[in-house]
Amino acid sequence: MNVGVFIPIGNNGWLISENAPQYKPTFELNKQITQTAEHYGLDFALSMIKLRGFGGKTEFWDHNLESFTLMAGLAAVTSKIKLFATAATLTMPPAIVARMAATIDSISGGRFGVNLVTGWQRPEYSQMGMWPGDQFFGTRYQYLSEYVQVLRDLWATGKSDFKGEHFAMEDCRVSPTPQADMKVICAGQSDAGMDFSARYADYNFCFGKGVNTPKAFAPAAEKLIEATRKTGRQVTSYVLMMVIADETDEAARAKWEHYKAGADHEAIAWLGQQGAVDTKSGADTNVRQMADPTSAVNINMGTLVGSYENVARMLDEVAEVPGTEGVLLTFDHFVEGVQAFGERVQPLMKSRAHVDSPVPSLVQSKRQAA
Ligand SMILES: Cc1cc2nc3c(=O)[nH]c(=O)nc-3n(C[C@H](O)[C@H](O)[C@H](O)COP(=O)(O)O)c2cc1C
Repeated sequence: MNVGVFIPIGNNGWLISENAPQYKPTFELNKQITQTAEHYGLDFALSMIKLRGFGGKTEFWDHNLESFTLMAGLAAVTSKIKLFATAATLTMPPAIVARMAATIDSISGGRFGVNLVTGWQRPEYSQMGMWPGDQFFGTRYQYLSEYVQVLRDLWATGKSDFKGEHFAMEDCRVSPTPQADMKVICAGQSDAGMDFSARYADYNFCFGKGVNTPKAFAPAAEKLIEATRKTGRQVTSYVLMMVIADETDEAARAKWEHYKAGADHEAIAWLGQQGAVDTKSGADTNVRQMADPTSAVNINMGTLVGSYENVARMLDEVAEVPGTEGVLLTFDHFVEGVQAFGERVQPLMKSRAHVDSPVPSLVQSKRQAA
């Protein structure tokens, strides 16, 4: 199974809590996390794009770097790990995104790919006069389908004459084209989103569900398999999970309870309001899942809480879900979390047995002390 890290491009990562680590996103922090991930053989790092935060006492995601420029910087200070930036496709024309991607492909030596999002939160775009109107909730994947066809034309041939409802290209050119096959992620979960992934993406990312229920996302992976049956394309599932690990189950559980006790209800309430605006994408949109009160403190992303051994076991269970090729991890403490994953969790995972882990320094120092 592939493992990636969802780097904290926004403040406080993915914990909407006054009791969680409070930090601003910086290049230095994301560099440290990505280089640590690379050191331990993780396969990729992805950054999201978020243009408007949730407010509240923790000013949740009110502070966010920009995804492409961050990944360009990270491309220059890494050498093996694959990097993905997220394109807010309402804000950037596809010919510019194609060229930016070709540039980061050049900086990284072919290690770059793109996550395409339609946007689900009106204020991110209306604040800059770029929201097309609420009918967009119902048409956003048609828009994205045209968008990706322009990208694919430009990357494959350096040229696009695509004519559609949203884009009309006239002998549009991008050169140089990327040296590596440009991989496309989509994290669509609605029927239209999955259909898009099955038609045009290489990977579909979905939310994990529940606490210590590593296989609970299986219906989403199954839905993708169904969708790809119609298109005959090879598209695999990746699942988003938060890892809260410690020496013992009790110590990990205590941290999780502490974060929940400090939930920033004002910021969470704002997320709930945003989720309710989209009435066109289907009743079970992920945005509604994110705001569900059960575990809104980490947007209900699917959480693995436990000892290093138990987290390793649960991650191996993720790998058993049909159609699943990888997991995308977030952590409560990102730097320590990636390091502990590399040193304590990964070496115990059957699904990571192929990774040549560096000699774990913690284990090594314990051996030296013995
Ligand atoms: C791993 C992951 C990353 C995502 N990254 C972003 C992002 O950077 N920006 C964004 O607006 N939405 C992001 N989303 C939301 C998805 O693009 C998508 O809109 C959401 O999962 C709901 O699916 P739907 O669009 O089919 O309704 C992400 C979702 C997941 C699971």
